[in-house]
Amino acid sequence: MPSTLSTRNNVAKRQQWKSKLGFVLAAAGSAIGLGNIVFFSANAYRYGAGAFYLPYLLALLLCGIPVMMLEFGLGKRFQASFPIALGRVAGKWGEAIGWFAILNALIITMYYSTILAWTMGMWWSSATGTLFESTVAVPGFELQAGEMANPGASFFDLISSWKAIGLATCIWMLNYVGVLRGTQTIERVVRWMVPFIWIVMILFIVRGLTLDGGIHGAYMLFTPQFDVMASPRVWNGAFSQIFFTLSLGFGIMTAYASYLPRNTDHVTSAVVVSAMNCSFEMIAGLAIFSLLFAYAVVPEASTLGMMFFVVPQAIGSLPAGVQFLGAAFFTLLLAAGLTSSTSLLESVISSLNDKFQIPRKYLLSIVVLIGMLGSLIFGLPHVIDPELNGNGTLGLSVLDLVDHYTFSYGLMIVGFLECVIIGWMLPASRLREELNASSPIQLGRWFDVLLRWVLPGVLGFIIVWTALTDLGLLGAGAFPTLYGLNESLAWMHILPLLTPIMWLLGTAGVGIALAHRPTVLQRSTIASENA
Ligand code: PHE
Repeated sequence: MPSTLSTRNNVAKRQQWKSKLGFVLAAAGSAIGLGNIVFFSANAYRYGAGAFYLPYLLALLLCGIPVMMLEFGLGKRFQASFPIALGRVAGKWGEAIGWFAILNALIITMYYSTILAWTMGMWWSSATGTLFESTVAVPGFELQAGEMANPGASFFDLISSWKAIGLATCIWMLNYVGVLRGTQTIERVVRWMVPFIWIVMILFIVRGLTLDGGIHGAYMLFTPQFDVMASPRVWNGAFSQIFFTLSLGFGIMTAYASYLPRNTDHVTSAVVVSAMNCSFEMIAGLAIFSLLFAYAVVPEASTLGMMFFVVPQAIGSLPAGVQFLGAAFFTLLLAAGLTSSTSLLESVISSLNDKFQIPRKYLLSIVVLIGMLGSLIFGLPHVIDPELNGNGTLGLSVLDLVDHYTFSYGLMIVGFLECVIIGWMLPASRLREELNASSPIQLGRWFDVLLRWVLPGVLGFIIVWTALTDLGLLGAGAFPTLYGLNESLAWMHILPLLTPIMWLLGTAGVGIALAHRPTVLQRSTIASENA
């Protein structure tokens, strides 16, 4: 455990939010992102709509809000970022787990930013109207105009051209500017962005529900289907969605909470932020389902498909204001996505800064450079699958592979381990006392039982179930593969094998190495204690 001196030194150097409202909006800005606007609807549809919504609510109450309290509580107690806080509870191995989370966050920022780059490109096509022409040529796939319908054609044209690389560079510049002054810029941006996102979403829900037949989408989303709910797939989907949508498992909430004084009430904040996020998600779900049902567009299962083909296609069928609403939809995605990508980046910078105390500008420049390179790989326009049996380009195929490991495993493993470490080693009762000391809402002993038994049990089950499914031991094997490679590209079949190895080395391997480097803060503490 650190001496009080080191904690105090640490606090003095750390940036602070100007107000509690700024913090709540920043946390909500991080949580509200692409996950709320499109991934929720795509997952809800994939897991049987009405069958999804009850497990989702249960996951929110059982897991989402308590884990957010845990992550806020860590920042509150240790006034430090995620790896450093976990290191203080569980030594080097605790810290290594923290770095594993941070490195997963960095990888997600890379592909999240590539998706935002594609969003920017699609914004341009909808603002200029090309997205709503019946078709365009797709030179990257050697398709003439008329061979592929829009909005798919515009999307495949974008991802198979070098435009995406330029746009990804723009997104990283925005990420850089957003995080450069830390809390100062983040706070200023979210004060505008969060209300803006809500207003645009309300516009969509009014439009969706006033369409003929739109209300059927709402019925479908909210009519429970108890028989489908018996499948573990639905529960797995609901818990992963809750983790992702609340930005848990990446150390963001710990970093954000550490920028407020230790006597802040974080129990209420966790309830408020979760409520803001999930109510927004429900509204978005209603808007999208009503829009899709009014036009009988079949919502595909894929999340990116929902974002780039299905919703734009429904918007294109609207009787009026197509170009405006199309541009508004992509503006909404960009605004919500950028407040999330900057929060991911802030979590990385905050942790590295606590560890090495390098001036933010230098640190940020290095991380942005690495992040941008990663995004460029995910944006590679090289066409490997002209038949589009799987994914068309190399970048998109790699994105799918990497997403599988960071999302299906990384997120859940961090969730599982943070509950075990805090539940058993801090232990949970101490975190609860810390949280209760400054909150009007008092957490009972149930909180300890949740962290020690229930959550490790549920999350552990999900991890094992996913692994068994991947290995094909539960019927259909689902290991991600690459499709449609012609013979000259056969060597690329190595990628599905290489990805998990690279991912493990890059996250767990580098995480362990980082944890074994001395923390500058500790070194200066030792120095001052010796003095
Ligand atoms: N919560 C964000 C969303 O719903 C995504 C995100 C995940 C952001 C993880 C930060 C960390 O889109």
